[in-house]
Amino acid sequence: MSQKIIHLIAAARPNFMKIAPLFHALNDLDWTDVRIIHTGQHYDYNMSGAFFDELGLPSPHYHLEVGSGSHAEQTGGVMIAYEKVCVDARPDCVVVVGDVNSTVACAMVATKLWIPCVHLEAGLRSGDRSMPEEINRLATDAIADLLWTPSPDADENLAHEGTDPKRVERVGNIMIDSIELLREQIEGTALPESVGNDAPYALVTLHRPSNVDEKEPLQRLVNELNQVAKKIRLVFVAHPRTMARLKSFDLLDTLSSSGDQIVLLEPAPYITFMRLVMGSAMIITDSGGLQEESTYLGIPCLTLRPNTERPITITEGTNSLVTPETLLAEVDGVLDGSRKKPTSPPDLWDGKTAYRAAESLKRFLGA
Ligand code: UD1
Repeated sequence: MSQKIIHLIAAARPNFMKIAPLFHALNDLDWTDVRIIHTGQHYDYNMSGAFFDELGLPSPHYHLEVGSGSHAEQTGGVMIAYEKVCVDARPDCVVVVGDVNSTVACAMVATKLWIPCVHLEAGLRSGDRSMPEEINRLATDAIADLLWTPSPDADENLAHEGTDPKRVERVGNIMIDSIELLREQIEGTALPESVGNDAPYALVTLHRPSNVDEKEPLQRLVNELNQVAKKIRLVFVAHPRTMARLKSFDLLDTLSSSGDQIVLLEPAPYITFMRLVMGSAMIITDSGGLQEESTYLGIPCLTLRPNTERPITITEGTNSLVTPETLLAEVDGVLDGSRKKPTSPPDLWDGKTAYRAAESLKRFLGA
């Protein structure tokens, strides 16, 4: 039997922990020839290379080096570069993950060349088309041939949009696989020295354009975080986008007015970051992935967004949507124990998603 060439598209930080378990599951099989395509949307070592090293991923087979830019520049740049790769050495299947610009770009290239395309983490919807990721999700799910969903709400969203159920297969949440693959290393890693082991802390991450790109909302959030820091120490792991805005809006001094109560850190590689997650008393974030990781780990999560594409983290998990106005009261609720308690993780968030995806791919490709 000839081997099937499978492209796994890796672009930005939240993609790497989704392709790693799938790479390992597929790479072990005799019918696959798995190749990693890095589009270069994230390129700093601590946003990309460190994740490859820690997740045991090989160097990418192709590096498109697209870098930063406007949405059209990034999406168009990836399409032009990736089309050349596919025309030169046509794969049998392309797997795109998540909702970043490279996801929709590579799905467009593959489907227009009639190369079977699979979307991992399909069906998530925030209902908010002002988020670039929502556009990427809608467009990718409209064209990909096979849609791997993480949860029943994703299946329902696709059904509601009229998607043929034959295109949809629920495989579970692959990010949980990465946690389980590396759990021992994560638990055996020390917290960064500046965090120490003494007082409890809340882990903070922010990077959504709506929270950080304009001065007024970011200033508001920084002021609220200073209030929260009077109740619990904050470990703020700042995305490059956020760090650049904190500097250009002169907000770093306002943050440091809380002294040792706010520890500001650079983006951390996967193992250190997950150690920070596991050691935290609560999470304050606008990230998509952290809403799921905190639900799986049973850690309270306060999400600074008006909506979420991951509602199961609210209905079955530890997540709540908060605003700058309600943040402080919600933090109090976590600290005094009056908040809802975690239940068991959602169905199929069990560390075995990559195995189910590999089985599904074998059937799909008739391998
Ligand atoms: C992207 C994704 C978002 C995801 C996030 C996780 C899209 C539309 N957005 O947003 O869904 O949640 O990644 O991080 O695809 N930068 C660096 N070094 C890097 C990468 C970026 O300094 O390695 C800087 C860029 O120059 C830019 C900023 O960070 O100023 C934002 O990067 P970009 O990739 O445009 O979007 P993200 O905000 O990271």
